[in-house]
Amino acid sequence: MSKLFDQLSIREVTIPNRVWMSPMCTYSANPEPGEAGKPTDFHLAHYASRAAGGAGLVVLEATAVAHVGAISPWDLGLWSNDHIEPHKRLADAIHANGAIAGVQLAHAGRKASTDLPWQGGGYVSPETLGWQPVGPSPVEFPGMPAPEELSLENIREVVQQFADAAVRADKAGFDVVEIHAAHGYLLHNFLSPISNKRTDAYGGSLENRARIVLEVIDAIRAVWPESKPVFMRLSMTDWVEENPADDRKSWTMDQSAQLVKWASERGVDLIDASTGGLDIVPIPHDKDYQTAKATELRARTAVATAAVGRIDDVETADTLVSSGDVDAVFLGRPLLKNPSWVNQAAEQLGAQPRFIQQYAYAL
Ligand SMILES: Cc1cc2nc3c(=O)[nH]c(=O)nc-3n(C[C@H](O)[C@H](O)[C@H](O)COP(=O)(O)O)c2cc1C
Repeated sequence: MSKLFDQLSIREVTIPNRVWMSPMCTYSANPEPGEAGKPTDFHLAHYASRAAGGAGLVVLEATAVAHVGAISPWDLGLWSNDHIEPHKRLADAIHANGAIAGVQLAHAGRKASTDLPWQGGGYVSPETLGWQPVGPSPVEFPGMPAPEELSLENIREVVQQFADAAVRADKAGFDVVEIHAAHGYLLHNFLSPISNKRTDAYGGSLENRARIVLEVIDAIRAVWPESKPVFMRLSMTDWVEENPADDRKSWTMDQSAQLVKWASERGVDLIDASTGGLDIVPIPHDKDYQTAKATELRARTAVATAAVGRIDDVETADTLVSSGDVDAVFLGRPLLKNPSWVNQAAEQLGAQPRFIQQYAYAL
């Protein structure tokens, strides 16, 4: 029996199925002062159509908790109260089209202030639309400037910015917030000894490198309704210690398993299990390169987990969930290619597609 279209209830939120839209930057906000960070009609159509297409949960792209925390000047943001109303339009449209609405709260750290990917994605300097990136230590990502090291006071501000953004996400009507602790952005910069060289309470031991992440979780849980889930996207590995030719100490599966247990104790309900992004290193090409690690993480921690990455056919999605290996799957590029992917999967598996009358009678 397929479980892909079973509901999933977490706290008081019921997600209608287990196939979800993965957060993906669209680089489509207007970067001008006063407009930066605000969703537009493009975002409305983009997210509403994936909801109508059957996704159980639609998680908005990396949405910056501070302007310097945007990946690019074209990102969405929740760093100001002016962002609440336009985000509410998106949450309302996602709900009206049958899905649960989530938003990924992000700070890009040492990989902030980059150009449009279709224009090369390089560093955008303060002389044009950009800014100086920040991080735990002045250790640069290849091709980017060295980040400015955050002081202890700055770290407190960042934690507060995540909490303030969660308050705005709640006011905008989102049901789920996802903390972005993956892909080489700020929280991952603290986790990995490659980018974190601090000698204070935020560097060194695993407890110290994880400190800011746990503080962010606590700060969000203190303001985010208890009835609503908190997810965390985590890179389970930097893909460095898997490479025998690379002898650097890095972020690994063992450390991830420990962090996930701590995160769960503090009120994170589900791990969105990704990998990589901290450095430019070789990664495996196998179809299950990442989903196998998600399965392993779930088995080791017993914390609810969603798999993501190269899940582009119905059988793979169905096997991952129906086996009980993971609780749900996130799809990225397949939903860019085909907004109705989830409805088509439902039809194939004998489940009920969303808006069946509007579409199915005509086909
Ligand atoms: C265009 C694009 C933008 C992305 N932006 C984000 C993002 O904002 N936040 C994030 O956590 N991952 C982001 N990702 C990663 C995806 O969410 C997903 O994890 C990855 O594409 C692997 O899944 P897929 O094989 O189904 O595409 C992005 C991926 C793509 C292709």
